[in-house]
Amino acid sequence: MKILSIEASPRGDKSNSSRVAQAFLEACTEANPDVEIDRLNVFDDGLPAFGREGASQKMAHIARLMESGQGLEAAGEWSGVLDHIQRLKSADKVVISSAMWNFSIPYPLKHYIDLVCQPGLTFGVNPQGEYVGMLKGKSLQLILSRGSEYRPGFPRQEDGIKTDYQSAYLRHIAAFLGFEDVREIILQPMDAKGPAHAATVLEQALQAARAAGAAF
Ligand SMILES: Cc1cc2nc3c(=O)[nH]c(=O)nc-3n(C[C@H](O)[C@H](O)[C@H](O)COP(=O)(O)O)c2cc1C
Repeated sequence: MKILSIEASPRGDKSNSSRVAQAFLEACTEANPDVEIDRLNVFDDGLPAFGREGASQKMAHIARLMESGQGLEAAGEWSGVLDHIQRLKSADKVVISSAMWNFSIPYPLKHYIDLVCQPGLTFGVNPQGEYVGMLKGKSLQLILSRGSEYRPGFPRQEDGIKTDYQSAYLRHIAAFLGFEDVREIILQPMDAKGPAHAATVLEQALQAARAAGAAF
């Protein structure tokens, strides 16, 4: 079994989400000694550029898909797209650990999503015009940390000016790409109620991660 672990905090061993992800992966390895873990830190590992060239290649890719059913070959920025899609597809299971930044995900994780969400490769459109995810059969574990507290129920439940686009967005992208088994460990509030409260929340999340990792 191969797990792709995508880490989206730049805070190293001070990161709550990374620490809980590490406990999760250790428990997973203990329960399945033959598990292979492929680690990607979207802050540290230098994601390939996806800008002017990549965006125009994406549009050319779509045009070619519609004309001939064949996508674009690897070249320039599109090579980075194909490499990361291959890496994601080769994983049996995926873990995403992420900080919340400005109610959503940190920008390098969005960069990663912009690389791997590609028509004909990770999602398609059926004859009824509906999107169909192509990453079927992979479990996804989300480990999400935030400084404040967010109530469930987005987008129907208001919580002052606080809105959780972190979990909502990642769950939306996961469903779009075809993930059906999505699990979540939330750490909150990691700043708003002070360090003693955060330590308790972290300890509970570590325990939950050990159990969830062993069963992943
Ligand atoms: C740039 C930045 C933006 C943040 N924005 C939010 C936010 O919108 N809402 C929130 O509740 N916490 C916010 N926080 C706090 C972090 O989400 C919180 O400290 C979390 O535990 C960080 O995860 P980590 O320890 O894995 O890095 C922000 C922190 C940083 C550094």
